[in-house]
Amino acid sequence: SESKLQLVHRHIRQFPDFPKKGILFRDICPILKDPAALTAVIDLFEEHARKNYKQVDLVIGLDARGFLFGPLLAQRLGVGFVLVRKKGKLPGATVSVAYDLEYGTAEAEIQEDAVAPGQKVLLIDDLLATGGTLFAACELMRKQQAEVLGCMVIIELKELNGSDKLKPHSVFSLLQY
Ligand code: PRP
Ligand code: HPA
Repeated sequence: SESKLQLVHRHIRQFPDFPKKGILFRDICPILKDPAALTAVIDLFEEHARKNYKQVDLVIGLDARGFLFGPLLAQRLGVGFVLVRKKGKLPGATVSVAYDLEYGTAEAEIQEDAVAPGQKVLLIDDLLATGGTLFAACELMRKQQAEVLGCMVIIELKELNGSDKLKPHSVFSLLQY
């Protein structure tokens, strides 16, 4: 029968020249539309987390598509979920880091009291491209003195070498293109 990974793979579409010419955009929306595919994603993330990390204190999700998967994983692991948002969206005292994107620039921000020093965190997003976004989130974790256990994504775009940029942090990806 079909593996969980095959099921996930069947629910990713690609669009050439979106949002700019030359970008082959990988679209995860069909995963969300299919409960079995979404369950498979979270199952695979949970299996990896339980096998590789003794203790997880928090799941940290990246704006915007990390928010779709992060809370589901956090619930499975029985831990809390924290948002890393694009600048200007979070109230109260915040910490921010600027970063470059495959197609533009942005600033990532977290609430200052969201993560306590020494907490062990898992970072989650839908996709790793250049690694700029996850790198910025790792920087935020460093500023908050949190311990990054690892990064998790559904898709890793290998030719952009994002995982090199994130070293020494590890990246777990379900699918590589
Ligand atoms: C995409 C994607 C990742 C990031 C990956 O989000 O969901 O968060 O880019 O690229 P990188 O590895 O080169 O940093 P995007 O910034 O397009 O924002 P969105 O989630 O608000 O659509
Ligand atoms: N798909 C979705 N998000 C992205 C991509 C992509 O191909 N590249 C950079 N962010």
